[in-house]
Amino acid sequence: LNLAILISGRGSNMAALLKAAAAPDYPARPVLVLSNRPDALGLETALAAGVQAVAVDHKPFGKDREAFERAMDTALVGAGTQIIALAGFMRVLTPWFVEKWQGRMINIHPSLLPKYKGLDTHQRALDAGETEVGATVHWVSPGVDDGEIIQQASLPILPGDTADTLAARLLPLEHALYPEALARACTRIAQAD
Ligand code: GRF
Repeated sequence: LNLAILISGRGSNMAALLKAAAAPDYPARPVLVLSNRPDALGLETALAAGVQAVAVDHKPFGKDREAFERAMDTALVGAGTQIIALAGFMRVLTPWFVEKWQGRMINIHPSLLPKYKGLDTHQRALDAGETEVGATVHWVSPGVDDGEIIQQASLPILPGDTADTLAARLLPLEHALYPEALARACTRIAQAD
């Protein structure tokens, strides 16, 4: 399946997906990396890996989220996208866009969903006295961080952990989790088609 990856920043999860997709038997082939921030570091990483990388800046669209998304959609369709992976993409998507790509769009979120949707997940887990944190790859549905779970990875909280140490320890787990979960999502789409 032709894969587009949406990012807003560093793009380390995107890089992990590109690396996995370099294997000849991987079920997704990256056709586009798209960032809503023109200065996202991940754009450079994608170009260096030989993948088409574009910015669709959300700022000129102001409050008109759908107009921004129509511009993204044009780029996605133009690249022949069949599955979208959100990887640190920090814009909330409208129901229009989510419904258009429903069943073909997945996201990685740094919590053990359904716990801690939204931002500051690790701090909130620490404050709540959790014993573990984790990451979840899920199908994207109209509710934020709300779709059906594909796969999770977890990590024990150790004495002295902070939100930053947890995020740093979780990142390599995310990089292993996301390619596996994306492959599962591809299998599901192939069965549905
Ligand atoms: C990751 O922690 C991911 O779970 C979250 O945003 C972060 C993105 O990091 N959605 P990167 O841009 O993939 O390095």
